[in-house]
Amino acid sequence: MLRPEALDARERYQLLTSLVVPRPIGWISTWDDSGRANLAPFSFYTALASSPMLVGVSVGHRGDQPKDSLRNARASRAFCVNVVTEEQLVAMHRTAGEFGPEVDEFERADLKVAPADAVSAPFVADCPAVLECSVHREVELGEAAATLLVGRVEAVRLDPRLRTVPGTRYVDAESLRPVGRLHGRAYGLLGEVVFVDRADEE
Ligand SMILES: Cc1cc2nc3c(=O)[nH]c(=O)nc-3n(C[C@H](O)[C@H](O)[C@H](O)COP(=O)(O)O)c2cc1C
Repeated sequence: MLRPEALDARERYQLLTSLVVPRPIGWISTWDDSGRANLAPFSFYTALASSPMLVGVSVGHRGDQPKDSLRNARASRAFCVNVVTEEQLVAMHRTAGEFGPEVDEFERADLKVAPADAVSAPFVADCPAVLECSVHREVELGEAAATLLVGRVEAVRLDPRLRTVPGTRYVDAESLRPVGRLHGRAYGLLGEVVFVDRADEE
């Protein structure tokens, strides 16, 4: 048995991020106060509620400074979550460098930027699914030196080429081709999709 107290910070990170897998990746895009676009991936990201639609992103502190995504979302009260699919995997990984605030990661990764409609944030123009979010609240995680940024989804952008499960709003995973983060540079692609039956379900 391993106790977290017996591990150093790096070991705790390695163990946790290889056991909580695969994690969805929220690729967060924001405007800074001079209108420059910022883009970075976050895999401490998940859905929190569906009515209203809330998502949470845990942004680690960079020394005593907030990361650019958090600073921009705080100031503009908005961000977009671009769903990372197989087509965007390499570009997404490229945007994760510890770049200064003067760097536009859209340019660096050769990505087209477009302005969101419902909130003041940019999004990745070629991304097939995007959540346009307002900042709902921030939760300081204290000792964890991270801030949970909770976004309220104000609009969902879907590429019309994405298929949905007939009669529902479920987006068909095989047409979305989402990517999950494992650890470090390791990612998981969508494998075989299986359906499980239960006696009390139709
Ligand atoms: C796939 C992936 C997932 C990441 N997830 C997180 C995360 O959940 N929280 C975090 O603070 N940093 C995470 N990072 C690191 C940030 O992307 C990195 O610090 C980035 O430079 C932040 O950019 P910003 O300063 O423009 O916000 C992740 C990196 C990668 C490649």
